[in-house]
Amino acid sequence: MPDAVTASTRKVGLIGWPVEHSFSPAMHNAAFSKAGLDWVYLPLPVQPEPAAVEKAVSGLSALGFAGANVTIPHKLSVMPFLSEISHTAQTVGAVNTITVCPNGDAVGDNTDVYGFLAPLKEYETTLEGADALLLGAGGAARSAVYGLALAGASRVVILNRTVSRAEKLVREMREAVGGLRLEVIPLKDTPAAEDCQLVVNTTSVGMHPLTEDSPLPSDFGWRPSLLAYDLVYNPRETRFLAQARSAGAVCINGLEMLLFQGVKSYEIWTGTRPNIETMRNELYQHFAR
Ligand code: ATR
Repeated sequence: MPDAVTASTRKVGLIGWPVEHSFSPAMHNAAFSKAGLDWVYLPLPVQPEPAAVEKAVSGLSALGFAGANVTIPHKLSVMPFLSEISHTAQTVGAVNTITVCPNGDAVGDNTDVYGFLAPLKEYETTLEGADALLLGAGGAARSAVYGLALAGASRVVILNRTVSRAEKLVREMREAVGGLRLEVIPLKDTPAAEDCQLVVNTTSVGMHPLTEDSPLPSDFGWRPSLLAYDLVYNPRETRFLAQARSAGAVCINGLEMLLFQGVKSYEIWTGTRPNIETMRNELYQHFAR
């Protein structure tokens, strides 16, 4: 963020409801400051009614915004009001980043898939041809399934409490994931860990305040060669990750996905790479408070 916001300051923001507690303004403004960019990131509370969403999206161009992030509950509801939607956003069925083109068109994209994959980058060799267990079948699971397909995983077993919801996800994503094999089983029938390399939790189980809960049984066979990835970020170390860590598994927490979806949005808007440590520090401090 610049010391003074002027008429030439470029504007981006976060469309959501509520947005008071969002980490995004602090994270992006810290990165703009670090880079010396005359940009500002503003919270943009938009009420849930479709009419409000339509006005907000067209208002971006009218007010000279360069773009916006989109969060709950608007990731789907902005879609009818966009001029174009990227292949990734269509595939996962959600928009979290809007860019306003010079002609005023608002284009929707999804950086959650990038955000999911970026923290796994250093384990790329593990993911190629890998078998994964994926817990959950909601919106976050869609980004994870598509990310794993892009990373060249061979098979994803989706475990969900509501099996029909996971089956729907598979029907809707089958075409987009190419050769990736997708299977569905009930969450309570958790299979042995033997044949998989990665376990991803996309359910909300373990999230504050029910931090003693884990989506996996306590005798799940964690081992050091397994990668555990929890998309829950509050608390940073969930019961799921604590169980994995105590067995020596490699752990990735949910703040990393939040960080990298923001990194990608910043890149799309500014055309430059942000200082990742600055963004990470700001994000981790926000959640430490
Ligand atoms: P998100 O967009 O974050 O993925 P969501 O779409 O509400 O959120 O999905 C939440 C996921 O957590 C779902 O897979 C949900 O399971 P159901 O499809 O059966 O509802 C899962 N989930 C939430 N609470 C759960 C619980 N107590 N036990 C097991 N799974 C749970």
